[in-house]
Amino acid sequence: MIRETIVTTQSAAGEAHLAPMGASVVDGGYLLQPFRPSRTLDNLAASRVAVVNFTDDARIFAGCITGRHRSWPTAPATRLATAVRLAACLAHDEVEVERMEDDPTRPRFFCRTVHRETHAPFLGLNRAVAAVLEGAILVSRLHLMDPERVDREMNYLSVAIEKTAGAAEREAWDWLCETVADHRARAAS
Ligand SMILES: Cc1cc2nc3c(=O)[nH]c(=O)nc-3n(C[C@H](O)[C@H](O)[C@H](O)COP(=O)(O)O)c2cc1C
Repeated sequence: MIRETIVTTQSAAGEAHLAPMGASVVDGGYLLQPFRPSRTLDNLAASRVAVVNFTDDARIFAGCITGRHRSWPTAPATRLATAVRLAACLAHDEVEVERMEDDPTRPRFFCRTVHRETHAPFLGLNRAVAAVLEGAILVSRLHLMDPERVDREMNYLSVAIEKTAGAAEREAWDWLCETVADHRARAAS
């Protein structure tokens, strides 16, 4: 089971970094698998700690992936002295890296949860949030994907946006659509 989360890590200089990341649920914690190269990977390898944040704010996923809005507020973690969490998360797990399996493409960080905290209620699933997540994954792979397939899948996802989105999901979806358009314009010029 993979939970789609926002992973917060910190550089050696103490700079917080947020990244949407799939966290595979394993016994006692998570398996995080950042592709090379990535700041999350560098930070995890150096600091050996992270926070796995659970949020239903689609703008954070879309904002980080498109670069339209990367600096979401953070707050100090509770147990891990050097770590930060997403200030507006619904809940978070603080994790320590127990073991790393290196790989030229996608190293594997096996993490143990040392603290879990809930901040706000989860108020149910929303199709538009799920559509933004799927759209964000498409946008993160624009350089690898056939443009017609991207259009087909974005068109399908837009139905859930039209039917079920609130203002936050619409804003997140607009960021994704603008990024697709920018990518096409750059490719054409
Ligand atoms: C829902 C979702 C899940 C993602 N899961 C992963 C993942 O498991 N591993 C990964 O390397 N990137 C994943 N990505 C893409 C990263 O968020 C993105 O490439 C990010 O920039 C990571 O690089 P960074 O640490 O340098 O910011 C995911 C993106 C989304 C939208």
